[in-house]
Amino acid sequence: MYLAADARGGLAGRLLDFAEAHARTAGAERLVLWTDTRFARAHGFYEKRGYVRQGAIRILDDRSKSLEFRYAKPAAGLVVEALDAAAAASAERRMAEILVACVDAGASVSFLPPLPMETARAHWRKVAADVAAGSRLLLAAWADGALVGTVQVDCGTPPNQPHRAEIAKLLVDPAARRRGIGRTLMQRAEQAAGRVGRSLLTLGTRAGDAAEPLYRALGWTEAGRIPGWALNPDRASYADTIFFWKRV
Ligand SMILES: CC(C)(COP(=O)(O)OP(=O)(O)OC[C@H]1O[C@@H](n2cnc3c(N)ncnc32)[C@H](O)[C@@H]1OP(=O)(O)O)[C@@H](O)C(=O)NCCC(=O)NCCS
Repeated sequence: MYLAADARGGLAGRLLDFAEAHARTAGAERLVLWTDTRFARAHGFYEKRGYVRQGAIRILDDRSKSLEFRYAKPAAGLVVEALDAAAAASAERRMAEILVACVDAGASVSFLPPLPMETARAHWRKVAADVAAGSRLLLAAWADGALVGTVQVDCGTPPNQPHRAEIAKLLVDPAARRRGIGRTLMQRAEQAAGRVGRSLLTLGTRAGDAAEPLYRALGWTEAGRIPGWALNPDRASYADTIFFWKRV
């Protein structure tokens, strides 16, 4: 994809929309692209569109001795994938947008609104570092090519709890809710945790939030509730948190 410098600012998105729609209509399941490692602006563009880095860097024997990153994303349907360290780092911007949107919509997920984009990005940089260290799993959900949801499995438990993990930051873009994305993310997170040997999962959620009936419907057991655990967005009142556990 190339755009004359004086035509930039909006047209690229429409071109890519058109190309993606064409691929989807033709039955494509995965969209893949290669981009020069030096084109930072292009990386930002693709990352905003839900592409994540995947696989090795391609070395081209061309005049400019190009090195290229491979970016990819599922093209159609609801798809959940676990991100490796490179994919997690490249998802930072889109994940931060989702976190900011959820916090602005009133979610109780560590932060208070208004959440600055840079603070949100710093959170995802730390998550990507944990993924690289192997202490955390990061899952992403795409709906028809748009990255719209995420959940984490925190495996950074002490040595006497190798069988335990904590589910954290289940987030679905407010524009994509009530379409089964949260449920699918949780089911995949439970599977992924089981695959890395974590058989006892725990999590906490603000009492009365949308997530509470979701966890109950998925068979999580309530362990109890702590009154006044988290500060509400009004910065004046406190909300109860309910803790759940599940064996997988
Ligand atoms: C919780 C959250 C992830 C749910 O995502 P979602 O994609 O809308 O959820 P789903 O469509 O998979 O819903 C699955 C089930 O959860 C329950 N549920 C979801 N949203 C609900 C709501 N607003 N009110 C009541 N029940 C709700 C329902 O049982 C629903 O099943 P149904 O649609 O068949 O009735 C989403 O609301 C969100 O991102 N909230 C903000 C962040 C947050 O609070 N995360 C949890 C932190 S512990």
